[in-house]
Amino acid sequence: MALVIALNKGRIFKEVLPILEQCNVVLDEDPNNSRKLVFDSVDKFHKIVVVRGADVPAYVENGIADIGITGKDTILECDSSLGFYELLDLQIGICRISVAGLAGQKEPERGLRIATKFPKITREHYEKMSNEVSLIKLSGALEIAPLLGLSDVIVDIVESGNTLKANGLEERLKLVDISARLIVNRASMKTKYSEIQNLTKGLSRVLSLS
Ligand code: PRP
Repeated sequence: MALVIALNKGRIFKEVLPILEQCNVVLDEDPNNSRKLVFDSVDKFHKIVVVRGADVPAYVENGIADIGITGKDTILECDSSLGFYELLDLQIGICRISVAGLAGQKEPERGLRIATKFPKITREHYEKMSNEVSLIKLSGALEIAPLLGLSDVIVDIVESGNTLKANGLEERLKLVDISARLIVNRASMKTKYSEIQNLTKGLSRVLSLS
């Protein structure tokens, strides 16, 4: 049976495909030029399913995919990480989740309003600080929230910092470093052990991971 790999068509996707090719996972069609969401490898030993980033853990946890590659942010936002193993830090897709606000603007001492796509990470940070805050859950383009007065700050992915700068925002505090991780379904770890080992060894070799 083919080893099923769930990938998200986000920022990691383009970086991961050539790495998989170097591990002999060569797709029979270029996913960048296709609307298809399920692809076979040329040798039929692998299947790639392309899903939303936040959905990768659900596909792996429920055994639809044996393996998933997704950002640590997605994993940290999961309700539980009990349904899969986190096997490898691929050390690609490196970025961070930070608090940012309008450049030069002071934060209110109470009732900070935070717009974020990452409520769990955000809540955990502010609970530690025992600050009372209100969270506004958004799905993207967070930078606009402080600009239009919807929030005081945002908690968002920062990579180059260009998006923040372009919107007049400043990075205030890094909450967590993020990179792409390989996650594996618990049952697959037993039933497809050697295939999973081969792929993780291949990825480690190609990425020069220790
Ligand atoms: C992310 C993030 C920022 C941007 C940061 O958005 O939400 O907007 O990238 O990158 P930078 O620091 O290099 O400018 P993404 O492009 O993933 O889209 P999204 O708004 O849908 O989250």
